[in-house]
Amino acid sequence: MLEQSVTPMKTIIEPFKIKSVEPVRFTTGRERERILREAGYNPFLIRADDVLIDLLTDSGTSAMSAKQWAGMMEGDESYAGAKSFFRFEKIAKELTGFKYIIPTHQGRAAEKILFTLVGGPHKCIPNNTHFDTTRANIEFTGAQAFDFLNPLGKDPVAIADFKGNMDITALERFILEKGRENVPLIMLTVTNNAGGGQPVSMENIRHTKAVAVKYKIPFFLDACRFAENAFFIKKREKGYEHKSVKEIAQEMFSYVDGCTMSAKKDALVNMGGFLGMNDDETAIRARNILVVTEGFPTYGGLAGRDLEAMAQGLEEVLDEHYLTYRIRSVEYLGEKLLQAGVPILQPPGGHAIYLDAKRFAPHIPSEQFPGQAVVCELYKMGGIRSVEIGSVMFGRTDKITGKFIPPALELVRLAIPRRVYTQSHIDYVIEAVIEVYQRRPELCGYRIVSEAPLLRHFTARFEPFNA
Ligand code: F0G
Repeated sequence: MLEQSVTPMKTIIEPFKIKSVEPVRFTTGRERERILREAGYNPFLIRADDVLIDLLTDSGTSAMSAKQWAGMMEGDESYAGAKSFFRFEKIAKELTGFKYIIPTHQGRAAEKILFTLVGGPHKCIPNNTHFDTTRANIEFTGAQAFDFLNPLGKDPVAIADFKGNMDITALERFILEKGRENVPLIMLTVTNNAGGGQPVSMENIRHTKAVAVKYKIPFFLDACRFAENAFFIKKREKGYEHKSVKEIAQEMFSYVDGCTMSAKKDALVNMGGFLGMNDDETAIRARNILVVTEGFPTYGGLAGRDLEAMAQGLEEVLDEHYLTYRIRSVEYLGEKLLQAGVPILQPPGGHAIYLDAKRFAPHIPSEQFPGQAVVCELYKMGGIRSVEIGSVMFGRTDKITGKFIPPALELVRLAIPRRVYTQSHIDYVIEAVIEVYQRRPELCGYRIVSEAPLLRHFTARFEPFNA
């Protein structure tokens, strides 16, 4: 256990040594202004090589361990029945308890298969908050996606332990209203990425399960960040303080009928995912789709070496020294920003800090994208890449009135890649954010000069109003 092996020191250190390094490239402020201009003020269009600290996402950006790299050499690349698959399957089954583990190339491929099976016109799928690929895969089938986040989770300044919880009353009302025959699946996303990386309690998982059982509806987890969620349960929920994170994760999975998993998060790999489930008939149908879209059932969309890395990552992520450091480094970033008065979504989430751009730049109206203004300034100031989650991503224009309709929150996500940056990188980020905050009256709004009809945030080009 952790307590027996820690030093008496208070500082929480990175629980690893660095064996292989990758240089970061420094640029001057003038260069960054040019780069940003050429990228149409959209961080997605900046080359990664021009970024000093990349906080665009925690997905697929983990540093792999020496054991994972060693596993890559052990990868069995046989088309059928590869030994790497059986190692991965054994570890994933032990963790989740599911009868079937179906490997996919990433999370959205698992979603695609699942919703091809259960979606379709008139179907309604509830979640605490759907991630955008989950929503897109549901809507692609003609079904509709609904979010039932508890009211506290929607308040950016409320401090609560489990702001990712499902609103159980609203969920049950929804099932009665739509009719259980139109609700083929209940999903729960742990941790709740779109809602600030906030965890879901075990009690809430049990309550959601009770509703699923009452109405005989299958219940699935979107399990991308299951280990971070399990760690929060250990730290915050009564009765779990003495359980291991692995036992807690196993209990979380024990309440559900299946999961979609993006291994690019809590399996510590650069590519991978899986679909897990217990139902025999659905699993056969899922594998039939898998063969057409991903690959043979013992490799899915992956190479044997990827399966090895994923198997190893699923074990390493449960290490409590790792999780202590992981959650603390995100919390540390949040704490220092709060101390300097920077408005953030509270409390800090598991994988990211979300700046509250509405309070950060209150002089910029939503239709001029306050989040984008902060994102651009962070890049200009410190070479830091972040992402806007606000009016650029979710804002829309009413077709009849032509009026702009902003989303409830204007956020900027600073997602922390796993095991990649050290404390001094984080200190540097803190300094840069505080510097931008102190100069906030100088921030100006942006307008869109070109955009795609769907998911415009990836490719839109902007212009600052002061240009
Ligand atoms: N579900 C959640 C909660 C996610 O955060 C993601 C990805 C997915 C599903 C899809 O997984 O990328 O492997 O296909 N989130 C990334 C992010 C992209 O930046 O938050 P994928």
